[in-house]
Amino acid sequence: MPTLPKFVAGNWKMHGLPEEGRALARALVQAGAGKKGVEVVVCPPLTSLAPVARELAGSGIAVGAQDCSPQDQGAYTGDVSARMLKAAGCGHVIVGHSERRDCHHEGDSLVCAKMTAAHKAGLSVILCVGEKDPKMENELRNEVVRIQLANSLAASARAGNTVIAYEPVWAIGSGLTPTAEQISGTHRAIRACLPPRLDGARIIYGGSVKPDNAAGILRLQDVNGALPGGASLKAESFLKIIEAAG
Ligand code: 13P
Repeated sequence: MPTLPKFVAGNWKMHGLPEEGRALARALVQAGAGKKGVEVVVCPPLTSLAPVARELAGSGIAVGAQDCSPQDQGAYTGDVSARMLKAAGCGHVIVGHSERRDCHHEGDSLVCAKMTAAHKAGLSVILCVGEKDPKMENELRNEVVRIQLANSLAASARAGNTVIAYEPVWAIGSGLTPTAEQISGTHRAIRACLPPRLDGARIIYGGSVKPDNAAGILRLQDVNGALPGGASLKAESFLKIIEAAG
Protein backbone atom coordinates (compact mmCIF):
# COMPACT_ATOMS: atom_id res chain seq x y z
CA MET A 1 0.00 0.00 0.00
CA PRO A 2 1.61 3.34 -1.02
CA THR A 3 1.86 5.88 1.80
CA LEU A 4 -1.37 7.85 2.00
CA PRO A 5 -1.26 11.64 2.50
CA LYS A 6 -2.03 13.11 5.90
CA PHE A 7 -5.77 13.38 6.54
CA VAL A 8 -7.37 16.44 8.14
CA ALA A 9 -11.13 16.50 8.71
CA GLY A 10 -13.09 19.35 10.27
CA ASN A 11 -16.07 18.24 12.34
CA TRP A 12 -18.44 21.19 12.34
CA LYS A 13 -20.86 19.37 14.69
CA MET A 14 -24.23 21.20 15.02
CA HIS A 15 -22.93 24.61 13.98
CA GLY A 16 -24.02 26.89 11.19
CA LEU A 17 -26.85 27.33 8.73
CA PRO A 18 -26.27 26.36 5.08
CA GLU A 19 -25.33 29.93 4.09
CA GLU A 20 -22.68 30.06 6.80
CA GLY A 21 -21.37 26.66 5.77
CA ARG A 22 -21.15 27.79 2.16
CA ALA A 23 -19.25 30.94 3.15
CA LEU A 24 -16.76 28.88 5.16
CA ALA A 25 -16.38 26.43 2.27
CA ARG A 26 -15.83 29.30 -0.16
CA ALA A 27 -13.10 30.76 2.06
CA LEU A 28 -11.34 27.37 2.16
CA VAL A 29 -11.52 27.05 -1.63
CA GLN A 30 -10.16 30.57 -2.11
CA ALA A 31 -7.22 29.73 0.15
CA GLY A 32 -6.48 26.56 -1.86
CA ALA A 33 -7.01 24.34 1.20
CA GLY A 34 -7.60 21.29 -1.00
CA LYS A 35 -4.31 21.69 -2.85
CA LYS A 36 -1.75 21.50 -0.07
CA GLY A 37 -0.81 17.82 -0.36
CA VAL A 38 -3.15 16.90 2.49
CA GLU A 39 -6.45 15.01 2.19
CA VAL A 40 -8.98 17.56 3.50
CA VAL A 41 -12.57 16.80 4.47
CA VAL A 42 -15.23 19.02 6.05
CA CYS A 43 -18.14 17.48 7.95
CA PRO A 44 -21.01 19.99 8.09
CA PRO A 45 -24.38 19.38 9.71
CA LEU A 46 -26.93 17.47 7.64
CA THR A 47 -28.79 20.39 6.08
CA SER A 48 -25.55 21.96 4.86
CA LEU A 49 -24.11 18.84 3.22
CA ALA A 50 -25.46 19.35 -0.31
CA PRO A 51 -24.92 23.14 -0.46
CA VAL A 52 -21.37 22.78 0.90
CA ALA A 53 -20.64 19.90 -1.50
CA ARG A 54 -21.74 22.09 -4.43
CA GLU A 55 -19.51 24.91 -3.18
CA LEU A 56 -16.52 22.55 -2.91
CA ALA A 57 -16.93 20.84 -6.30
CA GLY A 58 -13.54 20.56 -8.02
CA SER A 59 -11.67 22.11 -5.05
CA GLY A 60 -9.98 18.93 -3.79
CA ILE A 61 -11.84 19.28 -0.48
CA ALA A 62 -14.25 16.43 0.24
CA VAL A 63 -17.43 16.39 2.29
CA GLY A 64 -18.29 14.03 5.12
CA ALA A 65 -21.42 13.48 7.18
CA GLN A 66 -21.35 13.16 10.97
CA ASP A 67 -23.45 10.00 11.24
CA CYS A 68 -25.49 7.57 9.14
CA SER A 69 -28.17 4.94 9.60
CA PRO A 70 -27.15 1.29 9.71
CA GLN A 71 -30.18 0.59 7.46
CA ASP A 72 -30.38 0.96 3.67
CA GLN A 73 -33.93 2.34 3.70
CA GLY A 74 -37.31 1.84 5.34
CA ALA A 75 -39.53 3.01 8.17
CA TYR A 76 -36.83 4.68 10.29
CA THR A 77 -38.19 8.14 11.03
CA GLY A 78 -35.52 10.79 11.25
CA ASP A 79 -32.70 8.59 10.01
CA VAL A 80 -30.61 9.16 6.89
CA SER A 81 -29.00 6.33 4.95
CA ALA A 82 -25.42 6.23 3.71
CA ARG A 83 -26.71 6.11 0.11
CA MET A 84 -28.64 9.33 0.72
CA LEU A 85 -25.48 10.96 2.07
CA LYS A 86 -23.56 9.80 -0.97
CA ALA A 87 -26.25 11.31 -3.22
CA ALA A 88 -25.95 14.59 -1.28
CA GLY A 89 -22.28 14.77 -2.26
CA CYS A 90 -20.55 13.04 0.67
CA GLY A 91 -17.50 10.86 0.26
CA HIS A 92 -16.99 10.23 3.98
CA VAL A 93 -18.94 9.75 7.19
CA ILE A 94 -17.91 9.90 10.85
CA VAL A 95 -19.17 6.97 12.92
CA GLY A 96 -18.86 6.31 16.64
CA HIS A 97 -18.16 9.88 17.70
CA SER A 98 -18.27 10.09 21.50
CA GLU A 99 -21.09 12.65 21.32
CA ARG A 100 -23.20 10.05 19.46
CA ARG A 101 -22.10 7.33 21.88
CA ASP A 102 -23.06 9.54 24.87
CA CYS A 103 -26.10 11.53 23.69
CA HIS A 104 -27.64 8.71 21.66
CA HIS A 105 -26.37 5.69 23.62
CA GLU A 106 -24.63 4.21 20.61
CA GLY A 107 -22.60 1.09 21.32
CA ASP A 108 -19.86 -0.65 19.37
CA SER A 109 -22.16 -3.11 17.57
CA LEU A 110 -24.34 -0.28 16.23
CA VAL A 111 -21.20 1.61 15.21
CA CYS A 112 -20.02 -1.52 13.38
CA ALA A 113 -23.37 -1.80 11.54
CA LYS A 114 -23.20 1.87 10.53
CA MET A 115 -19.69 1.37 9.23
CA THR A 116 -20.76 -1.65 7.17
CA ALA A 117 -23.67 0.35 5.69
CA ALA A 118 -21.37 3.27 4.88
CA HIS A 119 -18.85 1.08 3.08
CA LYS A 120 -21.64 -0.67 1.18
CA ALA A 121 -22.79 2.75 -0.09
CA GLY A 122 -19.23 3.60 -1.17
CA LEU A 123 -18.44 6.04 1.64
CA SER A 124 -15.15 6.17 3.49
CA VAL A 125 -15.47 6.00 7.26
CA ILE A 126 -13.84 7.99 10.04
CA LEU A 127 -14.21 5.68 13.06
CA CYS A 128 -13.81 7.42 16.43
CA VAL A 129 -12.50 5.69 19.53
CA GLY A 130 -11.16 7.02 22.82
CA GLU A 131 -11.22 6.77 26.59
CA LYS A 132 -13.28 8.94 28.95
CA ASP A 133 -10.96 9.22 31.93
CA PRO A 134 -7.97 11.59 31.69
CA LYS A 135 -6.21 9.77 34.55
CA MET A 136 -6.33 6.32 32.98
CA GLU A 137 -3.05 4.38 33.03
CA ASN A 138 -1.46 3.71 29.64
CA GLU A 139 -2.17 0.00 29.67
CA LEU A 140 -5.83 0.42 30.55
CA ARG A 141 -6.27 3.17 27.95
CA ASN A 142 -4.78 0.95 25.27
CA GLU A 143 -7.08 -1.86 26.35
CA VAL A 144 -10.21 0.37 26.22
CA VAL A 145 -9.35 1.50 22.70
CA ARG A 146 -8.43 -2.04 21.62
CA ILE A 147 -11.83 -3.34 22.76
CA GLN A 148 -13.69 -0.50 21.00
CA LEU A 149 -11.82 -1.29 17.80
CA ALA A 150 -12.29 -5.04 18.08
CA ASN A 151 -16.06 -4.58 18.48
CA SER A 152 -16.70 -1.75 16.04
CA LEU A 153 -14.35 -2.31 13.12
CA ALA A 154 -16.43 -3.74 10.25
CA ALA A 155 -15.24 -6.65 8.12
CA SER A 156 -15.46 -4.28 5.14
CA ALA A 157 -12.82 -1.93 6.59
CA ARG A 158 -9.64 -1.49 4.54
CA ALA A 159 -6.80 1.03 4.61
CA GLY A 160 -8.35 2.79 1.62
CA ASN A 161 -11.86 3.23 3.04
CA THR A 162 -11.27 3.70 6.76
CA VAL A 163 -9.53 6.27 8.96
CA ILE A 164 -9.26 5.64 12.69
CA ALA A 165 -9.67 8.76 14.84
CA TYR A 166 -8.28 8.58 18.36
CA GLU A 167 -10.30 11.10 20.35
CA PRO A 168 -9.89 11.05 24.13
CA VAL A 169 -13.36 12.10 25.27
CA TRP A 170 -11.97 14.36 28.03
CA ALA A 171 -9.89 16.30 25.48
CA ILE A 172 -12.87 17.18 23.28
CA GLY A 173 -13.86 20.84 23.62
CA SER A 174 -11.89 21.16 26.87
CA GLY A 175 -8.70 22.81 25.65
CA LEU A 176 -6.82 19.90 27.25
CA THR A 177 -4.71 17.45 25.27
CA PRO A 178 -2.81 14.31 26.25
CA THR A 179 0.99 14.51 26.38
CA ALA A 180 2.91 13.77 23.19
CA GLU A 181 3.99 10.44 24.70
CA GLN A 182 0.38 9.49 25.45
CA ILE A 183 -0.78 10.36 21.93
CA SER A 184 2.12 8.49 20.30
CA GLY A 185 1.72 5.52 22.62
CA THR A 186 -2.00 5.18 21.97
CA HIS A 187 -1.57 5.55 18.20
CA ARG A 188 1.13 2.88 18.31
CA ALA A 189 -1.17 0.59 20.29
CA ILE A 190 -3.98 1.17 17.77
CA ARG A 191 -1.63 0.42 14.87
CA ALA A 192 -0.52 -2.78 16.60
CA CYS A 193 -4.05 -4.14 16.92
CA LEU A 194 -5.29 -3.33 13.41
CA PRO A 195 -5.75 -6.37 11.18
CA PRO A 196 -3.43 -6.71 8.12
CA ARG A 197 -6.16 -5.47 5.78
CA LEU A 198 -5.72 -2.07 7.47
CA ASP A 199 -1.96 -1.93 6.94
CA GLY A 200 -1.14 1.68 6.07
CA ALA A 201 -4.52 3.03 7.32
CA ARG A 202 -4.40 6.54 8.69
CA ILE A 203 -4.74 7.02 12.46
CA ILE A 204 -5.64 10.63 13.23
CA TYR A 205 -5.88 12.53 16.50
CA GLY A 206 -8.86 14.64 17.66
CA GLY A 207 -9.52 16.59 20.86
CA SER A 208 -8.70 20.31 21.21
CA VAL A 209 -6.48 20.42 18.10
CA LYS A 210 -5.73 24.12 17.53
CA PRO A 211 -3.36 26.07 15.29
CA ASP A 212 -0.86 26.42 18.15
CA ASN A 213 -0.62 22.70 19.00
CA ALA A 214 -1.29 21.17 15.57
CA ALA A 215 2.31 21.05 14.32
CA GLY A 216 3.54 19.38 17.52
CA ILE A 217 0.81 16.74 17.36
CA LEU A 218 1.03 16.15 13.61
CA ARG A 219 4.74 15.50 13.65
CA LEU A 220 4.42 12.64 16.15
CA GLN A 221 5.10 9.17 14.85
CA ASP A 222 1.97 7.25 13.87
CA VAL A 223 -0.15 10.44 13.88
CA ASN A 224 -1.40 10.62 10.31
CA GLY A 225 -3.75 13.56 10.57
CA ALA A 226 -6.17 15.46 12.76
CA LEU A 227 -9.88 15.83 13.49
CA PRO A 228 -10.44 19.35 14.83
CA GLY A 229 -13.90 20.45 15.94
CA GLY A 230 -14.03 24.06 17.16
CA ALA A 231 -10.92 25.11 15.23
CA SER A 232 -12.49 23.93 11.95
CA LEU A 233 -15.30 26.49 12.20
CA LYS A 234 -13.08 29.36 11.09
CA ALA A 235 -11.26 29.20 7.76
CA GLU A 236 -8.14 30.81 9.23
CA SER A 237 -7.63 28.32 12.06
CA PHE A 238 -8.61 25.28 9.98
CA LEU A 239 -6.13 26.35 7.28
CA LYS A 240 -3.33 26.63 9.82
CA ILE A 241 -4.01 23.04 10.90
CA ILE A 242 -4.03 21.86 7.26
CA GLU A 243 -0.76 23.69 6.66
CA ALA A 244 0.75 22.11 9.76
CA ALA A 245 -0.09 18.71 8.24
CA GLY A 246 1.39 19.56 4.83
P1 13P B 1 -12.65 19.99 19.53
O1 13P B 1 -11.54 20.17 18.51
O2 13P B 1 -13.61 21.13 19.55
O3 13P B 1 -12.12 19.58 20.85
O4 13P B 1 -13.54 18.74 18.99
C1 13P B 1 -12.92 17.56 18.64
C2 13P B 1 -13.92 16.62 18.07
O5 13P B 1 -14.80 16.15 18.76
C3 13P B 1 -13.82 16.30 16.64
O6 13P B 1 -14.62 15.23 16.29
